[in-house]
Amino acid sequence: MSSTQVYPVTWHHDRVHLIDQTRLPNEYAVVDITRYDDMAWAIETMVVRGAPAIGVAAAYGVYLGAREIQTTDRDTFLTQLEEVAKRLRSTRPTAVNLFWAIDRMTKTAHQTLGPVEHLKTVLLETAQAINANDIRTCQQIGDYGLAALPSKPGKLRILTHCNAGALATAGYGTALGVVRSAWSAGRLERVFADETRPRLQGAKLTAWECVQEGIPVTVITDNMAAHCMQRGMIDAVVVGADRIAANGDTANKIGTYSVALVAKAHNIPFYVAAPLSTIDFAIGDGSQIPIEERHPSEIYEIGDTTLCPSGAEFYNPAFDVTPARLITAIVTEYGAIAPASLQAELATKRVV
Ligand code: MRU
Repeated sequence: MSSTQVYPVTWHHDRVHLIDQTRLPNEYAVVDITRYDDMAWAIETMVVRGAPAIGVAAAYGVYLGAREIQTTDRDTFLTQLEEVAKRLRSTRPTAVNLFWAIDRMTKTAHQTLGPVEHLKTVLLETAQAINANDIRTCQQIGDYGLAALPSKPGKLRILTHCNAGALATAGYGTALGVVRSAWSAGRLERVFADETRPRLQGAKLTAWECVQEGIPVTVITDNMAAHCMQRGMIDAVVVGADRIAANGDTANKIGTYSVALVAKAHNIPFYVAAPLSTIDFAIGDGSQIPIEERHPSEIYEIGDTTLCPSGAEFYNPAFDVTPARLITAIVTEYGAIAPASLQAELATKRVV
């Protein structure tokens, strides 16, 4: 299977199919979702994960919830739809794409005239449009990212953190979209994938995607990135994002901040690749981005093995914030933009 054909969230007849990302790379399994509460569960448990992918999944979740509502009265329908949206909003706090997609769905319901059955049809069409759009957007990000990468004789070695690939979006990927475009253009030598403790999205998912597509990938543990940079093994870093504040500060998977600091120390360009739906202009800077804390067992257990003595305490933030000053450019579907001019440049393109 070519990884350009990896679509983690798809609509088939009357249900959503999710690639179960908790089972990769050992098992390729698809989970069928027909009820909104099951979609909320899938987002919470990271069957589906990655900011754009959970946005798409949540959009379908709103439709599934709408479909479950048994009324022909518009006001009752809209009130009950708000309960569906509330449940889906409660799943994960950091990735703004989740809230963006749910808001777009509920707004569509409020703005659509006609009987409740018609509203439901329009909600399905909207979720499908969000899904299809995200794939196109990632391809544009890939092309702009490719153009922004440093030019040097020979091919590039790109380091990435976590998984911002096809699995984390509707398809193609953001950071891994840039990697894919560089690979297609013959500009990529190899990808270095941080393993990304504690959930190992780099080792499990990024490496899986690269192997599917024949892109050379070297997995390193998170504490090896500085060493690789010091040895001249990395030409650029490209990561995804879960939420970007108006000033360009970027929340992404825990460990991204340390990679950015080390890249700065070695004069290596550091790119954030993300769609417009990941930018939260309501938030001035990164200190206001809510950071999800997950269960400590993600740290002290691997499979059936307990790693730490009982009595130890744990702190497990799932994301950190990279300050804008460490970011060379934010690559969106509207181009590669220096963080300092993010808002102004997107305003001149009339998209914010
Ligand atoms: O906790 P996760 O696996 O959902 O975190 C995912 C990330 O941090 C990704 O890098 C980010 O969502 C960008 S995905 C295109």
